[in-house]
Amino acid sequence: MRELSRQVRAAGLRVGLVPTMGFLHEGHLELVRRAKVDADVVVVSIFVNPAQFNDPGDFENYPRDTSADEAMLEAGGVDMMFVPEAEQVYPAGSASRVIVSGLADTLCGPGRPGHFDGVATVVSALFNMVEPDFAVFGEKDYQQLQVIRRMAADLHFDVDVVSVATCREPDGVAMSTRNERLSAAERQQAPAIYRGLCLASDAWQTGEDSSQALVGLVASEIEAAEGMTAEYVSLVDGATLQPVPRATAGCVLAVAAALGPVRLIDNVVLQRTASAVTAADNEETPAHA
Ligand code: PAJ
Repeated sequence: MRELSRQVRAAGLRVGLVPTMGFLHEGHLELVRRAKVDADVVVVSIFVNPAQFNDPGDFENYPRDTSADEAMLEAGGVDMMFVPEAEQVYPAGSASRVIVSGLADTLCGPGRPGHFDGVATVVSALFNMVEPDFAVFGEKDYQQLQVIRRMAADLHFDVDVVSVATCREPDGVAMSTRNERLSAAERQQAPAIYRGLCLASDAWQTGEDSSQALVGLVASEIEAAEGMTAEYVSLVDGATLQPVPRATAGCVLAVAAALGPVRLIDNVVLQRTASAVTAADNEETPAHA
């Protein structure tokens, strides 16, 4: 893979990488489309990374369908599909881990010990195996995106980290491989998460900035949905992921909730709509975070 990538880059072409765990959906294809804008050659990696699963059963049960993925990527105009074996990603005797402290300790961190270390480790390995000019990640996994940005900067990876907005179903549910495991009844309850996030975002647009009030709006929408339990609802700074008492542009409302057998995550980044921008906001966020 690295040899191919080096040949492409030596010819003056740009390589864009989209790391995935396969069982691809429209959200993944949106990342591919973004990659194609700036890359001459798009590489999609598919690797279900054992190091980022807390539960070995969850790893075993993670859905896999490489031939369906291949057909989707071919139709989507992807140049290379990179599907390494576990022994290639983690050589015999592998003992090194990339640990991103702080960012990995909030939100989903406490409930998934070691998860973000597993993500940072595999993404570092993929960056070194593929040597892309840039790599594309989804904002749906907002904390993962920030962890990867930190890791790439701290370890001086010569790879630009590019992000893409969350791709949603028509009813607002964030697209996810895990949605497949919801029953029909559970799937009907799933929109409550984004509904709550939109209620809170609208409340912020119209002047509510207390974290407690905004979090409360999301939490009550989730608790009202049958069978859904919030693991956390949190208003955090968009860069540090630390909780903030008052909402400003660039803050993130983030949620994890259990629905039947599935743990769903979602978030919205608070951004002023054009009509709601006030002079005060312009002073606060000159570069529109
Ligand atoms: P996976 O869950 O397969 O997701 C691959 C990429 O697709 C991630 O960057 C994720 O944020 C993005 N993505 C998933 N659903 C999305 C949606 N609805 N809208 C926009 N982007 C979406 O995330 C992983 O794999 C792994 O942790 C990985 C980064 C590959 C490391 O193993």
